[in-house]
Amino acid sequence: MFKHSTIEKNLILMGVLILITVSIGGLAQIVPLFVVETTIERVQGVRPYTPLELAGRNIYVREGCYNCHSQQVRPFRDELERYGHYSLAAESMYDHPFQWGSKRTGPDVARVGGRYSDDWHAQHLRSPRAVVPESIMPAYSFLDRPLAYADISSHLRALRTTGVPYTDEMIANARADLEAQANPEADATAFAARYANARQGAFDGNAAVVTEMDALVAYLQMLGTLVRFRDVTPEQLRQQ
Ligand code: HEC
Repeated sequence: MFKHSTIEKNLILMGVLILITVSIGGLAQIVPLFVVETTIERVQGVRPYTPLELAGRNIYVREGCYNCHSQQVRPFRDELERYGHYSLAAESMYDHPFQWGSKRTGPDVARVGGRYSDDWHAQHLRSPRAVVPESIMPAYSFLDRPLAYADISSHLRALRTTGVPYTDEMIANARADLEAQANPEADATAFAARYANARQGAFDGNAAVVTEMDALVAYLQMLGTLVRFRDVTPEQLRQQ
């Protein structure tokens, strides 16, 4: 046994002992993170994006919408009153990369789903000042072009390698599911069974062609709608 004074008077010995103590503390914090499957608490309702929503999300990223819009409601009173329930980690657990953003030239869009009609979104994206006269948002009218989605199942497969729970069935049916969601007349029984709470629609107003606008509006309209904050208590939100 060392006497405390021996340790205090021996710089090297004290250095070695400090190193050992700090390493044990560090390992105790880090090692469990390698072992647990996820550090994110699972929340009821959160599901992977439908193929159409995923295509819309890809457009959101491609166009750099995150440069002006965040997707993270912080737990402060002013934000809760403006946007709604603060964001949960689980809501972006299938986002690769996440779109929390750090800049709000425009408002946060984490809870924008269902706040406006599909038509409003399409009009607003084509010409923001047509619906919000003082808007400084750029126009994205070129999104009315057809969506290129021949490779959509590869997008699902790629996300699966990062841990998104897409099944073989979802990957095999990605194209059909994308088309079913974009056409309100299509039979959506199989699609709806694969993706809970996914809405079918002619998002840009024209069901005949699947456009980039369809995909982006479908994505915006689902943001923040998967977890039903009004119906559940915080305890019920936790599934574990
Ligand atoms: C140069 C900054 C800028 C960029 C880039 C931008 N926006 Fe906006 N956006 C704004 C501003 C400012 C507003 C508020 C005025 C308005 O409603 O037009 C807004 C409003 C919105 C709204 C309405 C939000 C609400 O709650 O009222 C949506 C939805 C939206 N933007 C989507 C997008 C999407 C999708 C993209 C990418 C295709 C995008 N924005 C790119 C600045 C931007």
